[in-house]
Amino acid sequence: MTKLAELKQNFVQRYGGSESDISAFQAPGRVNLIGEHTDYNGGSVFPAALTFGTTLLIRPRTDRKLALASTNFSITREISTESIAFDESDDWMNYPKGIVWELEKRGIPLSRGYDLLYHGEIPNGAGLSSSASIEVVTAYALLTLEGKATDTVQISLWSQHAENEFIGVKCGIMDQFAVANGKKDHAILLDCDSLQYELVPFRSGAYRLVIGNTNKRRGLVDSKYNERRAQCEQAVRDLRAAFPDLGLLGQLTLEQFNANEALIKDGTVRRRARHVAEEIDRVARSMDVLKKDDLAAFGQLMNASHDSLRDLYEVTGDELDAMVSAAREVPGVLGSRMTGAGFGGCTISLVHQDSVDRFISEVGAKYEKATGLHPDFYVCDIGDGVRQLKEEA
Ligand code: GLA
Repeated sequence: MTKLAELKQNFVQRYGGSESDISAFQAPGRVNLIGEHTDYNGGSVFPAALTFGTTLLIRPRTDRKLALASTNFSITREISTESIAFDESDDWMNYPKGIVWELEKRGIPLSRGYDLLYHGEIPNGAGLSSSASIEVVTAYALLTLEGKATDTVQISLWSQHAENEFIGVKCGIMDQFAVANGKKDHAILLDCDSLQYELVPFRSGAYRLVIGNTNKRRGLVDSKYNERRAQCEQAVRDLRAAFPDLGLLGQLTLEQFNANEALIKDGTVRRRARHVAEEIDRVARSMDVLKKDDLAAFGQLMNASHDSLRDLYEVTGDELDAMVSAAREVPGVLGSRMTGAGFGGCTISLVHQDSVDRFISEVGAKYEKATGLHPDFYVCDIGDGVRQLKEEA
């Protein structure tokens, strides 16, 4: 039996009725190839959608209730579509609730209730955007069933807004955008200031992208994340002495930054800002080398990105550093870096296809020895963004 068929059975067991009026949707997770902590600074990012993510089965109800369940968690809820509020004890269900809240704010209150069943394949807290995936699949499914437009750029903005305002995590646009707009075998070059984007074919030839999950939960991530954001805002305020209209750090070129960084008074804030300026420049250089299929040069840029996140932005931590060092020792590895917010979560490495098995065993053993944690690895293909599943998958 296919996975979708099994999920439909599960749905009917929970909610009754028949399978005929169940609709199915899927949104992927994402991995960022380069351009880290640049999105909320109006810089560029280069993420890609994964082939695994969150599947949502959904069916309209005759009343105004939302029934929420997941194959991954035991808690379920039945709530009224008319009284949506954040509640810590609702755990992951706050993400779908945030979307219903957001749609109402945008003048699209739900016309009826729904039964929803989620099935997640993205490890939680691994920095592969399981939350963005839930948000985006929920928004896409509800808009579809309400007969409204499903503009995936708008869906990413609304999902980010729900995460910022309903959940209270001040994330940038990268995750929701990648999950909503990804395309098979392409990475997305996104300018997070203008939201102009380009789907860039990711031709990795004999190399594979390998994700390494440190299985270190991103403990302090929210408070440290918000602290980094505040430091970038401080840098902007200081730099306004030379650029009175400056809105975001990413609006400066690296040359402008270099010539004016002394205006940033605090040394730590200056290092944070330097990371952002250089990382945005690394994304631009990545596009140049990838156009020439120079994967070795791209690998060097990935390495430089990690080193900067370790030394200047200080968001890596022992686990990510240990995994990246072990990865770089394996022959056939062109580059390795942390991906996502940091403080745990995942690394991404560019590994020759003949070295993948050796990579997994050697990096796994060294990492486990260094940290006492057992890692997981995913050899990753780039998949599509959010979509309705029309046939058996
Ligand atoms: C998290 C956030 C993104 C982005 C990355 C760091 O994934 O959700 O918006 O800021 O961290 O690049």
